[in-house]
Amino acid sequence: MTVQIDHALEEIRRFRPSPEFAAQAVADERLYEAAAADRLGFWADQARELLQWEKPFTRTLDWSNPPFAKWFDDGELNVAVNCLDRHVAAGNGDRVALHWEGEPGDSRDITYAELTDEVKRAANVLEGLGVGEGDRVAIYLPMIPEAVVSMLAVARIGAVHSVVFGGFSADSLASRIDDAEASLVITADGGYRKGKVFPLKPVVDEALGKTEKGTVQNVLVVRRGENEIAWDDARDQWWHETVSAAQAEHTARGFGAEHPLFILYTSGTTGKPKGILHTSGGYLTQAAFTHKNVFDLHPETDVYWCTADVGWVTGHSYVVYGPLANGATQVLYEGTPDTPHPGRWWEIVEKYKVSILYTAPTAIRSFMKLGRRIPQEFNLRSLRLLGSVGEPINPEAWIWYRHVIGGGSIPVVDTWWQTETGAIMISALPGVTDLKPGSAQVPIPGISIDILSDDGTPVEGEGGGLLVVTEPWPSMLRGIWGDPERFKETYWEKFGDKYFAGDGARRDEDGDIWLLGRVDDVMNVSGHRLSTAEIESSLVAHPWTAEAAVVGASDETTGQAVVAFVILKASQAEQVTDVAEAADELRRHVAAQIGAIARPRQVFIVNELPKTRSGKIMRRLLRDLAEGREVGDTTTLADTSIMQVISAQVR
Ligand code: PRX
Repeated sequence: MTVQIDHALEEIRRFRPSPEFAAQAVADERLYEAAAADRLGFWADQARELLQWEKPFTRTLDWSNPPFAKWFDDGELNVAVNCLDRHVAAGNGDRVALHWEGEPGDSRDITYAELTDEVKRAANVLEGLGVGEGDRVAIYLPMIPEAVVSMLAVARIGAVHSVVFGGFSADSLASRIDDAEASLVITADGGYRKGKVFPLKPVVDEALGKTEKGTVQNVLVVRRGENEIAWDDARDQWWHETVSAAQAEHTARGFGAEHPLFILYTSGTTGKPKGILHTSGGYLTQAAFTHKNVFDLHPETDVYWCTADVGWVTGHSYVVYGPLANGATQVLYEGTPDTPHPGRWWEIVEKYKVSILYTAPTAIRSFMKLGRRIPQEFNLRSLRLLGSVGEPINPEAWIWYRHVIGGGSIPVVDTWWQTETGAIMISALPGVTDLKPGSAQVPIPGISIDILSDDGTPVEGEGGGLLVVTEPWPSMLRGIWGDPERFKETYWEKFGDKYFAGDGARRDEDGDIWLLGRVDDVMNVSGHRLSTAEIESSLVAHPWTAEAAVVGASDETTGQAVVAFVILKASQAEQVTDVAEAADELRRHVAAQIGAIARPRQVFIVNELPKTRSGKIMRRLLRDLAEGREVGDTTTLADTSIMQVISAQVR
């Protein structure tokens, strides 16, 4: 028995690539060697090899004004042409780009030629609506082909998209529209989720009523949910009327490699989301490079499926730009994993013979909970590579994923990156690197990562500290929209010219990197980033709330969960008689203000919050309570007995 367990542990520690996989792998050891010998030359080669340039670049990196990097900046390219037209020109117009599967079971296969036509038509419509180079377009759509078409049409004309996840509220949408000063919103009447139509256009109408700057001129509406919606003739247009009637001829021109491609809002440590800005040439180079090498893409034969929504960065880089730049065939699925039955994902893998699957640990853990019987009802033998992203994947989930979904012998790659990094930064290369469950492992070729202690000294060998990127990389964020100071402060102030990622990390005896979660007040719930400060200010905006503190407590399925501690206003004491009801009302309030993903798992109504003498809330102690642990060191509290009072109220 002992021998067996030892053997199992040894197996868990490390998996060597199988010779069969290695023999056909896209990546090889030489990528590491080339990047180590000449990092900038390596990226320049990748940019030339992977992309089509309208005007070749002669400068690889301009880092003369850190932290504002410029990559390939005298070159010109059109991002949409790279994702579409050139595949058609190369004779691959009949290849399926998207196997789209709607939640109710309707489906569409769209070839590269068809997608190119549709994007050209949409580009003509956008131009007809007065959208031009550099203008911002907000996209608020479900996972339907028009989401991909919209993003590419915006890119094609040199405008800038800001995709807002369909689960965000009218308030969140309004503040994003205002911050980017968008002139157009592309939305749908509604989309399908959990067997029902959820409204989108009504949320846009509400958001536009709330915007302060009034920059939006038009709303383009895709018909999907067929739900009842209000209509403003002066402002609203149907996609199916305008786009289908538009010309399918559209000549794209090249834009500078540093031309903005998109803004994507993500939560930071303050209440205000940050508009992360990405540009064109460097971003597309790294998205395409990682998509090809980390997922071992063979575009002629693979069917790739990334389950992320286009509202998140994973959907940008690994549903839209990376796969399409590489001419991949992929699945796009509108709905939830368990509708209409808990085997829906596996049914889709079987139907389209998916060979590469990229998803989040939260999804894997929720499938683990349901048991292996469900996936085992389907034929998953087409799968040959599995990926994970968004949060640390615990070794148990990694092993389950490999065995139950992957049949026991295929590679699982755990990929670490962020909205800010634009593309994968740390991951094994399948067929080349050994695999180690639980560790994201090694920087990809051309990326320089280090672990520093708090004072900035590098941690040598084994040890833990703060994760930094030590050299600029092609797909790095170019700034925070409209706020260069915040960009410098957030990422560059702590360690000078090294990018501070906000994550803790440990290097093990083999040199592999283990991610340890955020070291700031950013939570990670189901692989989605949420800010404690944003949820706290939402809670405080409720008329009943006097004070609120929010923590991310570890959660078996979602990684972390939002737990709030709220002190009610004394003046409300009479109105609020039922504490459970008050907690529910506050949970609903946060969901309505920010979006359902931010809804706290629990709200505890308390009389006190633990504070230091200077008035700072000690969230560490609240986290102890939320996770059911013994409360840690309380000596720095202004009133050391307070935790007993709070504990009694929480239990
Ligand atoms: O804490 C890290 C975690 O997710 C954060 C980035 O979140 P976001 O910008 O929303 O992008 C998510 C998808 C790329 C990181 O700071 N994270 C992401 N991937 C991993 C991870 N933590 C551990 N392991 C990962 N593979």
